[in-house]
Amino acid sequence: MKKNNTVSLQEYNTFGVAASTPLFVEIKSSLALQEKLKDEAFKDALILGGGSNILFLADLSKPVIKISIPGIRIINETEQIAVVSAGAGVVWHDLVMWCVANNLGGIENLSLIPGLVGAAPIQNIGAYGVELSDVFYDALCINRKTGESRIFNVKDCDFGYRDSAFKNDLKDAYVVTAVRLALTKKNHNLKTNYGNVKETLAQMGITKPNIEDISKAVVQIRTNKLPDPKKLGNAGSFFKNPIVPKGECARLLLQYPNMPHYHIDSNFDKIPAGWLIEQAGFKGLKKGKVGMHDKQALVLVNYGTLYGKLLWKHAKLVMEGVEKKFGISLEPEVNLIR
Ligand code: EPU
Repeated sequence: MKKNNTVSLQEYNTFGVAASTPLFVEIKSSLALQEKLKDEAFKDALILGGGSNILFLADLSKPVIKISIPGIRIINETEQIAVVSAGAGVVWHDLVMWCVANNLGGIENLSLIPGLVGAAPIQNIGAYGVELSDVFYDALCINRKTGESRIFNVKDCDFGYRDSAFKNDLKDAYVVTAVRLALTKKNHNLKTNYGNVKETLAQMGITKPNIEDISKAVVQIRTNKLPDPKKLGNAGSFFKNPIVPKGECARLLLQYPNMPHYHIDSNFDKIPAGWLIEQAGFKGLKKGKVGMHDKQALVLVNYGTLYGKLLWKHAKLVMEGVEKKFGISLEPEVNLIR
């Protein structure tokens, strides 16, 4: 929608907040992207995917390039592995469904993660014991300055927990146009140990799950816990789960013996931010038109404001509350666009 010569971004962000851009273009191929990047007017453009991990704090002064590059296909296969290529504009869950339908294993635990394929490597999406990096083959990217294409392998991406080189050294340097995954054709490596995946499968009456069963279980868990952005604006987990030195975790455990925590390596543990936020009293608490979700405290929910900055104000209140109670600083997982 165009208003006063600006384009509304409200339908392009899953928080559903109002923000506008002076210039907006939708791109359907990497060639078209290369052309657009030559255009001086789009030099500093914001690259937008599904808008599911973004919070607009104000109207934008820069242009927006929305990536809608389609296509899913197998580009290479052996008896055991198929390499699947997906355009950056493919809806991530559609890719998962395509792989499950074609009996290609590896991303079934990542069912129903909102967003598009192009964003998946940026934050190394993960859920239920699987991260994109586990199945990542490579990504086709375009250098924003030179327009040259480059292939990034796993090493180049430097993946971490909700992290990659695209968020650090290479921030804003490249645009992902396609992602290729190495998936199993048989003897799938099923991961059912995380959270209540096993329990949910048992409730479904399944004792010997296949990848489709796991996908269904994950969809069920997510649907029960996470609000549907079409009904309630949100961007999934708003914060990262903090990774703290083991000593700090031990100190907190003395005071809160029931605090859930996960071993990361010999130096660090991870504490679920949802637990910290719940204990700090913010779970299900609504302040005006914003609040933390009542079924998963890690999800910041928009109950009807048009102002991204009100959501951010609430997030900061939550951060302060957690810092005060536990001495831990939460870090947003969602990208703030000022
Ligand atoms: N918890 C609470 N209260 C809450 C929520 C969680 O006490 O309100 C505690 C519980 O002990 C629970 C633990 O936190 O067992 C972990 O909760 P959950 O399994 O829901 O996972 P999470 O750590 O909160 C992460 C991802 C999610 C992903 C799930 C499942 C991050 C930031 N979030 O959440 O990803 O779906 O694991 O694997 O790592 C997303 O990134 O948008 C997202 C939804």
